[in-house]
Amino acid sequence: MRRRPLTAALLASVLVAAIVAPAAAQAPPDWSEAEIRLVGRHGPWPPPPARDPSNRISGTPAGIALGEHLFNDVRLSGDELMSCATCHQAGRDWSDGRALGKARADLDRRTPSLWNVGYSHWFGWNGAGDSLWSQSIRPILDPREMGGSRERASRLLREDKQLACGYERAFGAKPDGDDERLLVDAAKALAAFQATLVSPRTRFDDFRDALVAGDREAASRYGLAEQRGLQLFIGAGNCNACHLGPRFTNGEFGDIGIAFFVRPGEVDSGRLGGLAALAASPFNLLGRYNDDASGSSALRTQHVRRLHSNFGEFRVPGLRQVGRSVAYMHNGGLATLEDVVRHYSEVSPDRLHSDGVPLVRSLGLSAGQSTDLVAFLRSLDADPPPHPAPPPLCP
Ligand code: HEC
Ligand code: HEC
Repeated sequence: MRRRPLTAALLASVLVAAIVAPAAAQAPPDWSEAEIRLVGRHGPWPPPPARDPSNRISGTPAGIALGEHLFNDVRLSGDELMSCATCHQAGRDWSDGRALGKARADLDRRTPSLWNVGYSHWFGWNGAGDSLWSQSIRPILDPREMGGSRERASRLLREDKQLACGYERAFGAKPDGDDERLLVDAAKALAAFQATLVSPRTRFDDFRDALVAGDREAASRYGLAEQRGLQLFIGAGNCNACHLGPRFTNGEFGDIGIAFFVRPGEVDSGRLGGLAALAASPFNLLGRYNDDASGSSALRTQHVRRLHSNFGEFRVPGLRQVGRSVAYMHNGGLATLEDVVRHYSEVSPDRLHSDGVPLVRSLGLSAGQSTDLVAFLRSLDADPPPHPAPPPLCP
């Protein structure tokens, strides 16, 4: 066979092949049946509205409306300067744009976003709350945060005409209970409102739905780096051992080797201290303010045990809207998603305190893998529609 001289046309086709070849390596990853099942479990989104049987006004329009007004009301705080919305701002994904919370002084933990908080079962980084309403009492009474009181909250509900009217619509009676009960009712309204804060659908959700439906065309709109990052997330990275389900959290606690020293000599014991606070709280689900007559909502609180291994555990955060945060982890100690991925890539086993089989181990990711994982995490973000100011409670 005679070899043909390298004509211009042939040369051009060789060049084209050289350009196309690396693109072939960029073909979308194959998705196995098992992987598709795992991806499917991170949806569908949004979930049905959250309902809390321990809160009798959960999900009611009048309860939600009252809660939103209270959420924005500085009069719940001791100096009338601070409301929930001071730290949980609608325009900042219901957080404050800071690495650590700040009231009169700096707080030791980061202000979590309130997106999707209605679907949690433990609250606070250390799980000191077992209901959204009991968690909403904490900042009102905490002298380091709003520094309010039972008397101040109940007086507000009784004496402010709009709030008193909103209360009557929500609870079907005038606000004339004892101070503590009215504080709890205020918190139940706050909880009803917060449970409506559901993050928007994302590009990940479109991909997930397309993959599950077998719609390759629609699935191909999701970036290749994002697809590879997702495969790492549910595969070798083992991220979905803790960040699972539609919210990307199991709602429980874990130790991933984040420092727990608050100041030299002072530690944040995390879940260990949270369980002690939960047991001591008059507002936990075993107490008299739980509206759930069946008692089943209190089972988790009844059965949870305090173990030494809870030391240094913090709640597994959900990952929707995660790329929109300005800092990460309970102590705001990591500034970017790249830093978070580097942490998981390099974490030393000596820093983990978990018993048994460690779920987190140093992953030793390549630069490309780290980029892919970050790209995937960013696909969980979407711009929420603007949050309008609420209409007046009563005409
Ligand atoms: C000074 C800032 C600040 C104010 C004011 C504030 N919060 Fe927070 N919020 C935080 C911080 C910091 C945390 C984390 C606390 C922790 O885990 O120990 C938090 C945690 C929460 C959580 C738990 C979220 C989760 O995912 O578990 C809820 C719910 C919450 N706040 C609701 C409220 C409500 C309701 C109000 C008003 C009554 C309020 N916050 C006022 C800073 C604030
Ligand atoms: C053992 C359970 C566990 C595993 C496995 C795990 N995480 Fe986490 N993740 C956590 C916990 C717990 C935190 C919060 C730790 C803290 O605040 O001290 C966290 C925090 C995060 C955050 C910061 C979120 C925020 O709002 O601050 C991101 C992002 C994250 N994880 C992504 C991942 C990725 C990616 C993987 C896989 C490489 C992974 N996680 C594996 C438990 C886990």
